Amino acid sequence: MSKVVVVDHPLVQHKMSIIRDYRTGTKEFREALNEISGLITYEISRNFETKEAKVTTPIEETTVRVLTKDVVIVPILRAGLGMVDGIHTMIPTAKIGHVGLYRDETTLQPVEYYAKFPDLPQATVLVVDPMLATGGSASFAVTAVKKRGAKDIRYVGLVGCPEGVARMQQDHPDVDIYLAAMDARLNEVGYIVPGLGDCGDRLFGTK
Ligand code: PRP
Ligand code: URA
Repeated sequence: MSKVVVVDHPLVQHKMSIIRDYRTGTKEFREALNEISGLITYEISRNFETKEAKVTTPIEETTVRVLTKDVVIVPILRAGLGMVDGIHTMIPTAKIGHVGLYRDETTLQPVEYYAKFPDLPQATVLVVDPMLATGGSASFAVTAVKKRGAKDIRYVGLVGCPEGVARMQQDHPDVDIYLAAMDARLNEVGYIVPGLGDCGDRLFGTK
């Protein structure tokens, strides 16, 4: 069974209060989302593998530790894009893949319209999407990276709910889930309650 980590650091909680507020505009929403993404990355990377290396300081040679594996960030378009800069600030060498999905408004099933990935088999892959609602989009995207050989995969989101977590744990028990908040439930049209509304629309100013 995968692990669910809710990063409830006080700074994350404070920034979540900004994100949830319906009065928050696009600029502040985007900034807070990226800041939270950076803070979550600190927690995700806590157990990244490192290996020994040598560097020479201005004084003498010494032993240091460096990250062993490449990291690939895979945002689910569109809303996942809002987390990329925050994660990239923490892991600047990360490569980026993209998977374009939208939820059919009637069936709530994900529909793919784009996919492009760097080499995945040896990398730590972070599948990124702020909203884990039914879990259909996240599960689809994880299947897509597994088909391209990814083995070490984590899901990085902002707000989850029991339905989305259950779907991911059933479909992908090997993929740990990192969130900033775990909400109560889904409403009858598939939105997270209390949630933050439509993340893509709030991020990009669309309706
Ligand atoms: C939203 C969100 C997730 C998905 C989550 O995307 O960004 O990708 O819904 O829902 P699920 O867990 O039920 O699949 P949306 O379809 O609104 O597309 P957008 O990001 O382009 O706005
Ligand atoms: N997508 C969103 O943007 N918000 C939700 O609450 C659910 C899916």
